[in-house]
This record gives sequence, structure tokens and C-alpha cells, in this order.
Amino acid sequence: MSAPAEQLATLPVEGLSQAQAEVELERLAREIARHDELYYAQDAPEISDADYDALRLRNDAIETRFPGLVRPDSPSLRVGVEPSEQFAKVTHTVPMLSLGNAFSDEDVRDFVERVRRFFKKGEADTAAFTAEPKIDGLSISLRYEKGKLVLGATRGDGMTGENVTANVRTIKDIPNELKGSGVPDVFEARGEIFMLHTDFAELNAAQEAAGKQTYVNPRNTASGSLRQLDPSVTASRKLHFFAYTWGEVSALPADTQMGVLDAMGAWGLPINPLTRLCTSVEELIAAHADFEAERATLGYDIDGVVYKVDRLDLQERLGFVSRAPRWAIAHKFPAEKATTVLKDIEIQVGRTGALTPVAKLEPVTVGGVVVQNATLHNEDEIARKDVRIGDTVVIQRAGDVIPQVLSVVEDKRPKGLTPFDFPKVCPACGSHAVREIHPRTGREDVVRRCTGGLICPAQAVERLKHFVSRNAFDIEGLGAKQIEAFYTEGRVMKPADIFTLEARNARTDNPLQEKEGWGEQSVANLFAAINERRSISLDRFIYALGIRHVGETTARLLAKSYGTFEALRDAMHAAADHQSAAYEDLNTIDGIGQVVADALIEFFAEAHNNEVLDALLVEVTPAPFETEERASPVTGKTIVFTGSLDRLSRSEAKVMAERYGAKVAGSVSSKTDYVVAGEAAGSKLKKAQELGVQVLSEDAWFDLVGET
Ligand code: IVH
Repeated sequence: MSAPAEQLATLPVEGLSQAQAEVELERLAREIARHDELYYAQDAPEISDADYDALRLRNDAIETRFPGLVRPDSPSLRVGVEPSEQFAKVTHTVPMLSLGNAFSDEDVRDFVERVRRFFKKGEADTAAFTAEPKIDGLSISLRYEKGKLVLGATRGDGMTGENVTANVRTIKDIPNELKGSGVPDVFEARGEIFMLHTDFAELNAAQEAAGKQTYVNPRNTASGSLRQLDPSVTASRKLHFFAYTWGEVSALPADTQMGVLDAMGAWGLPINPLTRLCTSVEELIAAHADFEAERATLGYDIDGVVYKVDRLDLQERLGFVSRAPRWAIAHKFPAEKATTVLKDIEIQVGRTGALTPVAKLEPVTVGGVVVQNATLHNEDEIARKDVRIGDTVVIQRAGDVIPQVLSVVEDKRPKGLTPFDFPKVCPACGSHAVREIHPRTGREDVVRRCTGGLICPAQAVERLKHFVSRNAFDIEGLGAKQIEAFYTEGRVMKPADIFTLEARNARTDNPLQEKEGWGEQSVANLFAAINERRSISLDRFIYALGIRHVGETTARLLAKSYGTFEALRDAMHAAADHQSAAYEDLNTIDGIGQVVADALIEFFAEAHNNEVLDALLVEVTPAPFETEERASPVTGKTIVFTGSLDRLSRSEAKVMAERYGAKVAGSVSSKTDYVVAGEAAGSKLKKAQELGVQVLSEDAWFDLVGET
């Protein structure tokens, strides 16, 4: 009996005849080659790693049964089996961070103002900034030891990237050896790999001539080209490189950003020639205008300008917030726009119940990327712009942010369109959706929220997606798509279920490995990845819970302040009583305001949340918080700064204390270890004296941490 080729795909391997196996192997070779191309060359995979694995495993299983049928172009004969394990992992000793964004001149003024205010007494009033084009490519770290290139690593998640040394060596712009004098023993040069417009166009013309699919844009192509298994493919793609920063170094060749760029240039690393030094906001803004005017003729893509504090000592003192330096910012170019037809408005339900309207669009290319969805923000915005289904709308896309609907082209409105009626019930669970009244301002929230809470499946799924997301549990092979499927199938309904999945899977008559898209190997890999996360850092654990208003920074702050999860939970239960010391403590943590405090207390007061947590804590152990700050006499201590300090602004004092592992509080309590009092210290100093808290002068503070 012969089944059509598409039906063969669903037949178990054991049931295939030799003739069927032959047809099926041919299909798999084609399919896998197509996905390889999408993944490696275009950086635009269509299927999950798990689905991809399943194709490969099926291919292998058929070949094992019919060894005589192995094709010359079989995927099993090509090197490297798993895409995620093609390249060895590299841990960056100095993380590769990202940048905050500025979208307007006003944002740039704020940035410069923030930097200057960070320092005391006009110390930085005349500090210069570099202005560098923001290259739209992919970042890379190049490690030179004794001047020789020993490692090329992609950024990855900033902490761990991929070892692509062999490929990097094929890029002509990247020297294999640094030349000249003063090259430090260890120097990690960092910058951007990109592709010229001309090379991109040539590559696409060749693709077209060969009847192959063309590439989407130079950036994705550069990224795909670098992650080729075969370095000769990378070599044929003519990639380029500019250096703009550095990672681990044994010594720095200069004490300014510009100085180090010049030194890198002298050693033979390409530095962008547009880079310039500016001493005022006006000069920065002028650089932005100049670069934008040159943008079209540069021959490569740039998407903005990066401003950096030039003096490295000031950079060091400014430090970082979350994943971005305080001493640099990316000033983006205005977004690109296009018009298209709005086909529908879909209402999505987020993890906190927020109903978000999403525009479903006639696909349109905006700045090289095909856009089909855009945000409509909220109910009021739809009404304000009077957006109706069927309208022609203007959309805009800026960098990596979600495209948005800007306005309606009214001349093009067909007759008979009716205003959009925003739903008053949740599309997922049918509960009422309401706009809360803010308790203090008395104003109606712009967001309409589902009141279904725990019964709403959409919220549950979104919470689970958040739980496994990159900065939370980050479980390989368990992304949004798998969570949705597991939830629908009843395999994972709450976080703890992820960790009991393996045991339950062993007992069920519907095991995962028998499901379409899964196989023995991919299921084993998934369980291994899950088990790896049974121990997790406390800050990630807190963030993963998805407590309203608790983002990464707050989660870290809480981890640091309470040290262990038990301590945090006990304190939050105790803080439900607003007269308690726990409540006072929570509110004295600098960076935690009333809204966050209320959200935390509410979260831990909810019985269901405690059940979910108890179940989870049977499976997972959050590790007590460890600071990577320098160990010092003030590590773990609580400090309050008061009065006017001589050498430090309030912001710098806080950052400095945190650098030494101390916590900074806004008010004095019995938990305060030191009060650092400057000129004209008032009530806080008095309270410290009453409570017998040790009071330090500013100089004594510097002595205590060992700085002079
Ligand atoms: S500095 C800690 N300088 O932009 C500072 N980044 O949005 C790290 N980029 O990941 C980056 N041109 O890939 C810097 N002149 C430039 C840049 C630049 C492009 C990229 C880089 C980074 C991303 C942040």
C-alpha cells in the first residue's frame, strides 16, 4: 500500500516499508536542509529546536532500520548534530552589556544632566563624551593574548556566548595579531560585525539567480554568516568589523574612551572614522544630525549614535544599572514608517490580566522587516486615534521595539466602518474586565484588566511563560510555545509541575516522547535542562514569580536585602501589619516605593500564591543571595547617608556603598549599621544618636571601606 508523502511523515518508523522509507528519507533531507538554511544563514528559524531535533532523530531511526538507504546528502553525514551544541559555550569574564536608549534631544539632555549630577561640586561639568555611530550588526568579543587572537565569542545572553574563533579568523578586518607597541598581555577587543550593503545585494542577486530564497537584511545575514559550521562559508560572506569597547584587559593603554579607541586603531583594529569627541549637549545632538545625514551613503547600516563618558575614571565611578552602563546611552534615529490595512484587532491577555489590543495587519515591509502585528497600546489610544477595523493605518518600527500604530489615513477609510468597541469581558475566561481607580490619584487606569485572576487561563499561561523566560528560569527547550502546548494538554498548570513533569511522564500513557515534534532524545534533553534549574539564584527566583511591579532590578534588591527566600517571605507576611518593624524595614529599602511594597505584601498574603510557592519549594532551592561586590567591612551592612557630603553626591554615595556590598536605606532604624553624616545633618542624625547607631564622618566612611 502506498501512502502519499505527507502522510508518511506521521507513520511510525517501525511501520515503514523500504519504498516508503526511501521517500521519507528524501523528504527529511530536504526539510532539514531547509531548516538549517533558515537557522544558520538567515537567523530566522521557523521551528523550535525540539521540533528540529525530532526531524533529525526520525531521520537517524529510519537509517538505522534501512542502512542501505542512507543518502549521499543525508543530514546524518553532515558534521554537528544539534544546532544549539554546534559551538562550544564561552563564559564572558566581563559581561557583554546592552545600552539604554534615548529617542529625543530631551532624553540626551537628561542623560548628560544625570551624569553631571552624579558627581559632586561640578566635578564633571566639563567632562567630554564620545559620539560613535551605533553599528547595526552583531557584537563580538575578540580575545588577544600576547597580541595573538585566541578566541572569538558571540554575545549570547551577555554572560555566555558561542565560540566562533574559526569563523572570526576568516574576517579580513580582524587582525590575527595586534601590531605595534604597548599591546597588553590580555586584551579583549569588542565591537560589531556587519555586512556592507553592496555585499548584501550581491549575495541576494546570486541567491535569486540560483532560484534560492533571498535574505531579509544585512544584520540577520551577518549574524547567520558568522554562525556557519563551515568557516569557508563565513569567508565567502565578506564580513566587516569595527571595535568600540573592550572586555577583560590586563592593562589599559589610555585613561579615556577616545584614547583606548586610538590605541586599538594603532594596533590594527578598525575604528569607525566618524567617532568624535564632544564637550556639550549641543555637540552631541549635532553629531546625531550629522551621522543621520550621512546614514544613506555610509554603505552599512547604523541605527543611532552612542554617547559615552570619555574619562574612564568617571565611567568606573558611574558603574552600571541592571544590564546597561550609566555612562553611555544609544540615541536612536527616528523610527521608520509605512502604511498598511488593519485587518483585525486582537485582544491579548497578559500575566497581570492587562488586556492589550494588537493590530493584525496586511503584511508590510518597514525598514527591511516584514511586520504583521503592531501594538495599539490601550483602549483610550484606540479611541483617541479612532482606529477602526478596515482602516489604512500608519505604523512605525524603531529598532527592536514592537511596531506601533501611529494614526489612521482618514482619506482612505472605506464607507461603513464602525468605531471599535473595546471588550468589557476577558476574551480568555469571560470574567469582567475593568479599569481600576488609582487609590491615591483617583484616576481611572488606562489599562483594562481581567478580574478572573486565578481562574483565567490566559493569565496562568502568561505567568508560566514569564516563569521560564530568559531572565527568570531560562530552561533550554522550554519556551513560550512549549508552555502553551503543555498547558493545553494539562501537563503543566503551575510552576511546580515543570519539575514533576519527568516523574509523571514516566507513569502516563501519553508520554511526551510519543508526541509529534518530540523524541526520546529531545525529551531527555528537556528533563536534563529542567533538573539543572532545581537550584537557582535568589534574584532570578523572585523575578520569576511575576509579582506585579517586581522587575529584575527590584528582584535583585529584595534578594540582596533579605538574603534568603524564607527571610523575604516571613518579612512580607509580617509586613501585612503596617505597624510592624517588617513594614518599616521594607519601606526603608532604597528603591522600593509604596506601590511595590503593597504589591509584594498582597502577593504573599494570597493563599493560592502560597500554595503555588510551597509546591515549588519542594522542587526548587533558591540559593541564598551572594554579592559579587568586593568583600569589605561594610558587606551586608545597612548604611544611611544624611546631610550634605563633601566628596560625594547622594547618587554616587549609594552606588559606592553598593559596590562594597552594603545596603543603602532611606531612613534610620534599629537595623541601621552606620549613619554617614555630612554637613547640616538633621533628624536622621538625631535618631541615630537616640538609637545608638554608629555615626561616621565622610572621611571615616572612606577610611572604613579602604578608599582614600
Ligand atoms: S557600547 C557597555 N558602542 O549596540 C557598552 N555598542 O544596544 C556596550 N553597538 O550590544 C556597548 N555600536 O552590539 C557600543 N559604538 C557602539 C556600538 C554598540 C553598536 C551595539 C552593541 C550593543 C548594542 C546595545
